[in-house]
Amino acid sequence: MSTIIAGTPVTAGLGKLFKAHGLSGKTVVLFDDNTRKLYGEAILKTLQEEGFQYKELVVPAREASKSFSAAYRLYGSMIEADVDRSWNLLAVGGGVVGDLGGFIAASYYRGIPVIQLPTTLLAMTDSAIGGKVAINHQLGKNLIGFFHLPTLVLIDPSYLKTLPKREIYSGMAEVVKYGFIADKAFFNFLELHFSDIINLQEPYLTEAVKKSASIKEDVVKKDFREITGLRATLNFGHTFAHGLEKLAEYRYIRHGEAVTIGMVSALFLSHNLGYLDRQSLEQGLALLGKFRFPKGLLKRRFLDIDSHLLLENMLSDKKKLDKKLRFVLLRQLGEAFLLEETIEEQRVVKAINDTKAFFSGKS
Ligand SMILES: NC(=O)c1ccc[n+]([C@@H]2O[C@H](COP(=O)([O-])OP(=O)(O)OC[C@H]3O[C@@H](n4cnc5c(N)ncnc54)[C@H](O)[C@@H]3O)[C@@H](O)[C@H]2O)c1
Ligand SMILES: [Zn+2]
Repeated sequence: MSTIIAGTPVTAGLGKLFKAHGLSGKTVVLFDDNTRKLYGEAILKTLQEEGFQYKELVVPAREASKSFSAAYRLYGSMIEADVDRSWNLLAVGGGVVGDLGGFIAASYYRGIPVIQLPTTLLAMTDSAIGGKVAINHQLGKNLIGFFHLPTLVLIDPSYLKTLPKREIYSGMAEVVKYGFIADKAFFNFLELHFSDIINLQEPYLTEAVKKSASIKEDVVKKDFREITGLRATLNFGHTFAHGLEKLAEYRYIRHGEAVTIGMVSALFLSHNLGYLDRQSLEQGLALLGKFRFPKGLLKRRFLDIDSHLLLENMLSDKKKLDKKLRFVLLRQLGEAFLLEETIEEQRVVKAINDTKAFFSGKS
């Protein structure tokens, strides 16, 4: 598995750290244009001071950069710079840079090491960990990729100071997800310190980030290739979310916003099917009720959407297995499982409608 290191500044002593993990001092550094602007100078200066030989690459800050054409262009820059298998790649950014960088590292010269330096809350707690790397195809998201574990994941929550609030909430959805699926004590901690974390207050922020990263790492370690159903529990709320994201063309709703809504639906479904008691349902809903969305987003991207249409778009999710919808449900707060049997569509529609009722007072 990977070595996860958290600290501020996490890049201190980078040369030594690389050496200790068998990484050479020859590094391709991938940014998007935001992380380049915000943190590029400081990171490149560190690399210089630490005696690295480096090649800098930048992609536009958007989901469309996770494409074969972007990867192809970057391979070209690397070949021209004489980057060979003795090099490694450091991905500095959110999930877009992490996934693209990981994809390039997994394929270039049949694979060079990747080091993740996540700069969004979502990347620190989710996408940078676990080794799933991918680009998108016109016919679907994340369809072309590899399992390529990062040698190092370097987490520095101080990077979050420049991250827009909307992105903080989006990442927070995944943080809360870990409480729901794996750890009741962590759930209680998040109930207590939700606004501290959203406002980047220490030590709560670092504790939440570290705990999330370790839960994800632990789940991935036990079910790396998603065979036993354990890794699949990381998709709590995601079956609903993918439908919403698809309907919004992966542009008008952030992944975490869709997951927040999806987790509400998954809670209702868990309760309606008799797995989760009412008190836990209400406790879960109270936590999810703390999330904030941009004005009008809930209405446009969820409440106004016909529930059957949403269901159809969930069905065309790539994670479908023989066209069956797969749901991750809760048995209690802190314990999730993958439901194996199919459930009637009416049950799903009911959960969506319950979710609409929950949010309609809030939009
Ligand atoms: N590999 C996985 O296991 C996995 C898991 C979840 C999501 N993902 C992928 O992650 C991607 C989404 O990642 P994301 O939410 O991090 O989005 P993102 O990478 O698009 O980053 C969001 C925005 O924040 C900017 N940004 C990044 N760091 C910043 C900082 N410190 N300060 C200010 N701005 C900053 C970025 O430039 C971008 O505009 C999706 O492509 C998704 O498929 C992958
Ligand atoms: Zn997610």
